[in-house]
Amino acid sequence: EDFQAPVHLKHQDFTSLQELPDSFAWTQRNDDDSHYPSIGDSISEHVPVIDLFDPNALQLIGRACKTWGVFQVTNHGVPSTLFDNMEYITKTLFSLPVQQKLKASRSPDSVTGYGVARISSFFPKQMWSEGFTIVGSPVEHFRELWPDDYSKYCDGIKEYEEEMKKLAGRIMWLTLGSLGVTKEDIKWAGPKGDFQDSSAALQLNHYPACPDPDRAMGLAPHTDSTLFTILYQNNTSGLQVMKEGAGWVTVPPVPGRLVINVGDLLHILSNGLYRSVLHRVKVNRSRQRISVAYLYGPPSNVKIAPLSKLVGPSEPPLYRSVTWNEYLGTKAKHFNKALSSFRICA
Ligand code: SIN
Ligand code: FE2
Repeated sequence: EDFQAPVHLKHQDFTSLQELPDSFAWTQRNDDDSHYPSIGDSISEHVPVIDLFDPNALQLIGRACKTWGVFQVTNHGVPSTLFDNMEYITKTLFSLPVQQKLKASRSPDSVTGYGVARISSFFPKQMWSEGFTIVGSPVEHFRELWPDDYSKYCDGIKEYEEEMKKLAGRIMWLTLGSLGVTKEDIKWAGPKGDFQDSSAALQLNHYPACPDPDRAMGLAPHTDSTLFTILYQNNTSGLQVMKEGAGWVTVPPVPGRLVINVGDLLHILSNGLYRSVLHRVKVNRSRQRISVAYLYGPPSNVKIAPLSKLVGPSEPPLYRSVTWNEYLGTKAKHFNKALSSFRICA
């Protein structure tokens, strides 16, 4: 077989290690000063929960995006069976033998497939996680994973993507509405106003149980390069978001809730009014965690720039315009500096 192994894994199945190798240890033993896991984990603050049918949903979303850059939604209308099935697919995929998973490895020049987190190269240590990225149909990779019954797994992914696309369109309008923007202001919503041509990727994540969770890192701190991300997490907590003045705040999984992260493109679109949220994932000693992230972006040919409604003589645009692909290219090179590199210097 001619496939590329993810850089760090080297065909070794880290998921069954009994001890944390040094390459996975983000802190020394008894190292109180290290920022992971951070001092100041906040238990007194809670990420806002918003009922999408709340008459005040617009204002609540606006406030959450300004103060947190993240919120949770209920009453989103996505049937729980869809999440059950997605969780089943994800667990089944990651429990395949490592040699099998490596057959579906992400190749260096592509985004889809199995591998370590794409941000890995920006950090000196390995993360205690594995991922699988899907853009459109996963059929080519799924054929490698499940030669006989790949089609049922593909159907499950398709169904999930369709449902997420609908929900993302709704959340997009609510978010734009919270900025005072109306349908006439957004040409790329398409003739039906349903963001038919929007782009998206599905990211499946697996965080195996870890023998030394305090010293390990599931996913290092980052912001998403999306407009926003719709995140499903299974019943194991681990996701933390950075709240200014409070530190890292855990977003515990609650059945029926989805997490919405403001991404860098919405940050640009809102001229910095809505902040893309820094987040990371901690791991667990006895439980595996899975998450499914729907990474939502504009149509591929659309340039994202601060909304004209939000800029004026006293509010100059803070960012240059950029397509999703251009933004991803910059992020892949500069990571933490990507957003600031599109800032217009006054
Ligand atoms: C991510 O940030 O892409 C995943 C977050 C999570 O696993 O909760
Ligand atoms: Fe993320």
